[in-house]
Amino acid sequence: MNKFLCCMLVLLDISVKWTVQETLPPKYLHYDPTISRQLLCDQCPPGTYVKQHCTASSKTECAPCPDQYYTDEWSSNDECQYCNVVCNELQYEKVKCSSTRNRFCECVEGRYLDLEFCLKHTACPLGFGVAEQGTPESDTVCKRCPEGYFSSETSSKQACQKHTNCSALGLKTVRKGDATRNNVCQGEKSDKSDQQCEIDVTLCEEAFFRFAVPTKPTSNWLNLLKESLPGIKVNAETVERIKQRHSPQEQTFQLLKLWKQQNNDHIMVKNIMQGIDHCENSISKHIGHLNVTFEQLNILMENLPGKKLGKEEIDHILRMCKSTEQVLKLLNLWRVKNRDQDTIKGLMYGLKHLKTYHFPKTTIQGLRKVVKFLHSLTMYKLYQKLFLEMLGNQIHLVKVRRV
Ligand SMILES: *[C@@H]1O[C@H](CO)[C@@H](O)[C@H](O)[C@H]1NC(C)=O
Ligand SMILES: *[C@@H]1O[C@H](CO)[C@@H](O)[C@H](O)[C@H]1NC(C)=O
Repeated sequence: MNKFLCCMLVLLDISVKWTVQETLPPKYLHYDPTISRQLLCDQCPPGTYVKQHCTASSKTECAPCPDQYYTDEWSSNDECQYCNVVCNELQYEKVKCSSTRNRFCECVEGRYLDLEFCLKHTACPLGFGVAEQGTPESDTVCKRCPEGYFSSETSSKQACQKHTNCSALGLKTVRKGDATRNNVCQGEKSDKSDQQCEIDVTLCEEAFFRFAVPTKPTSNWLNLLKESLPGIKVNAETVERIKQRHSPQEQTFQLLKLWKQQNNDHIMVKNIMQGIDHCENSISKHIGHLNVTFEQLNILMENLPGKKLGKEEIDHILRMCKSTEQVLKLLNLWRVKNRDQDTIKGLMYGLKHLKTYHFPKTTIQGLRKVVKFLHSLTMYKLYQKLFLEMLGNQIHLVKVRRV
């Protein structure tokens, strides 16, 4: 009996919904003073408002919402609502304001909404992998890597990876892995091999450090630069070693890089590091998502001026570097090979010719944005603030060059 009643109710429920569907437009009661009676008027559909209530002889008159106003339901409202949502700088407009929708903002890639703020997705620490990637609405969920798995990087994307099974490869295990390290099999290079993609002076560092490269280096200028930098000085022996190993431009980069590492709690260095971080973030936003192939890296290389990297070297980049770093590593190796070249100028030169090679548009656009960003006013102001002030005040002998 009870069962029967329940099913009757379900049926009833369905039939009610059905009738509502059937009776669009929905109605509303409106008191018409001219005839002193309540009338049943039609509501107006989304995107419109009631311009004129119905009368005994005429239907409701609906009119479209004006620009920047909307209604998202059938209603008897005599005005539309204002699109009142405003996206902040860490959001983008996912849904534009239209006559039927309010504006809807979503946090940019890599961030999620927490109350009113778009916070960065948590990066899972070493030994923890991503169990659930963050979304615009939710943070990353990390989990400790279980037995047999490891995570050797702090990342908001990377899940725990399985330890390499050396015996399955016919190799002995030289060092057993743990939650933070992979097994090392016999004949393999140890951990260092994971880091061979490391870029010693990044594109952003190059852009910042370039300010200190002298136009006409004298024999003593590297020492002068060393002396003029605030904080702990790079020691003289190291400076000598840098001099012997590198070309003048690279000497400047190497010296500044060391100085930066030694003085990372100095306020000026902190400012510079913030600027560099900001720069690296922008660059990875422009090209970090690109997925280049061996063919494309080759074409890019062919189009850069000066000495080229060989196919084996490019193949090595693809094997050693994550997809987010491959283009940057290519440019880095190109700079090292072509002493004293400016990577951005080389890239600008290369970009001019890329169009003719069915190169993916998104890649060209990404690279263009990188060039544009490094030449942008924002960056110029940062360089100027951080370096010109610092070096300009402290040293007069080393000429500081503008980009
Ligand atoms: C490694 O591979 C071997 C042979 O394929 C297999 O017997 C063994 O169970 C594997 N070990 C792990 C930890 O997966
Ligand atoms: C990159 O491209 C390769 C080959 O086209 C594909 O197999 C791979 O899944 C892509 N990776 C990403 C992250 O899109």
